[in-house]
Amino acid sequence: MMAELNSPLSPTEQDEHPPVGPRSREAFRRARDVFPDGTTRVTIERDPIPRYMSHGRGAYLFDTDGRKFLDLNANFTTLIHGHAFAPVVAALEQQLRDGTCFANPTEKEIDLATLICGLVPGMQRIRFCNTGTEAVMFAIKAARAWTGRPAIAKVEGSYHGAYDWVEVSQSSTPATWGSPAEPQSVPFYRGMPSSVLSEVVPLRFNDSQGALQQIRRHAASLAAIVLDPMPSRAGLIAPDAAFISALQNVAREQNILIISDEVLNFRQSFQGAAARYGLEPDLYALGKIIGGGLPIGAIAGRACVMQMFDADEKKPAVPQGGTFSANPMSMTAGLAAMQSLDHAAFAHLERLGDMLRARLVQAIERWQVAFSVTGAGSLFRIHPKRRPPRDFREAFWSPSEAAVMRELTRFFTAEGIILPNGAAACLSTPMGDAEIDLVGQVFEQFLSSRAQCMEWGRL
Ligand SMILES: Cc1ncc(COP(=O)(O)O)c(C=O)c1O
Repeated sequence: MMAELNSPLSPTEQDEHPPVGPRSREAFRRARDVFPDGTTRVTIERDPIPRYMSHGRGAYLFDTDGRKFLDLNANFTTLIHGHAFAPVVAALEQQLRDGTCFANPTEKEIDLATLICGLVPGMQRIRFCNTGTEAVMFAIKAARAWTGRPAIAKVEGSYHGAYDWVEVSQSSTPATWGSPAEPQSVPFYRGMPSSVLSEVVPLRFNDSQGALQQIRRHAASLAAIVLDPMPSRAGLIAPDAAFISALQNVAREQNILIISDEVLNFRQSFQGAAARYGLEPDLYALGKIIGGGLPIGAIAGRACVMQMFDADEKKPAVPQGGTFSANPMSMTAGLAAMQSLDHAAFAHLERLGDMLRARLVQAIERWQVAFSVTGAGSLFRIHPKRRPPRDFREAFWSPSEAAVMRELTRFFTAEGIILPNGAAACLSTPMGDAEIDLVGQVFEQFLSSRAQCMEWGRL
């Protein structure tokens, strides 16, 4: 049934913070008549009306009402070179004229695959798909085919896309997450099959002993440990060396594969996140930055495990395809973006990230307030906690902490900075010292305005 057109905004929707302009309000009015909830991605940030964007240039985004924002979201960390990166634009213009998708392979896919496999020795073979969700899904299917086992272990609170098994315990709460020693499998959506819940073993991040016990207990059914080395939504917390080596050792001991989900964290270094933290995965899931701003995903890893996708004139163990997989537009954009990601680019991002995290911590110490900062490389996250959290449970917000974070995000938006709320914020190569100064100053202003508030001491 067609929804009523132009239905009025509810009183809460009119109370948006900070106010969006009339064009965003009008767009949202139209959107609510065609999309359940008014948006077509649950991850869209809104308060409560989303801001509609008209275009982006470099580190900045412009909304349809003409306001300019420093973009610390970068489409959920995808745009490592910022918006409308000139080499990507030029390459895409040519590809657009040459055709956008064919049922045949192109040489571009070999070029991008060669570049990526050349970066990481553990990526001996690669296959392309269109999203990080698909990459994680196919990596898990390959692990199942390789081991002959159905289940996975994953970190509580971590986000790996929309495949049912990795959604388990993504949004656990104190009421549902169970004991520290034995985290519960918590459904993510109403109707999630109980068979899925029984095939997922949630682990607490950085709890080496607990993880070892759980993995050994369920080893006979485990195909893979799916690990994002620094899971953004679970806190963007650095892994302890002991946690990494415990997982690595128990996986080897029990013939369980390790899948490093680097859809987000591949941007952590020239060789990605596993290399940074000493993890040696069997398989990797990639996405985001390797597509240069166009949809992409990839599964990579040891040649023998990647053999699960090899048909060799018969049906492969795991058929993997897709109408738009390895489409030449994504391959072209990815190639142009990745060719520009040299050591100098990573050194630049690392320097900016270190500078920004230090600046935020200095401000917190100066104002003696209940905030902390986590992250690495070009990624950071601000927590409403006195001590940096060590796992998802410690990072979890109470209602008053959630209110503080909402205020922080609103303050940043009012000052012209888009700061993701509850996810990783990121830097991009077009940023420089001026952008770091701006973020530092705005955080300082927020702390100074909050310090005068009586509520402060209770945080
Ligand atoms: C770690 C991780 N894995 C998987 C995904 C899913 O990727 P996509 O949104 O491209 O499906 C994301 C997306 O944010 C992610 O951060």
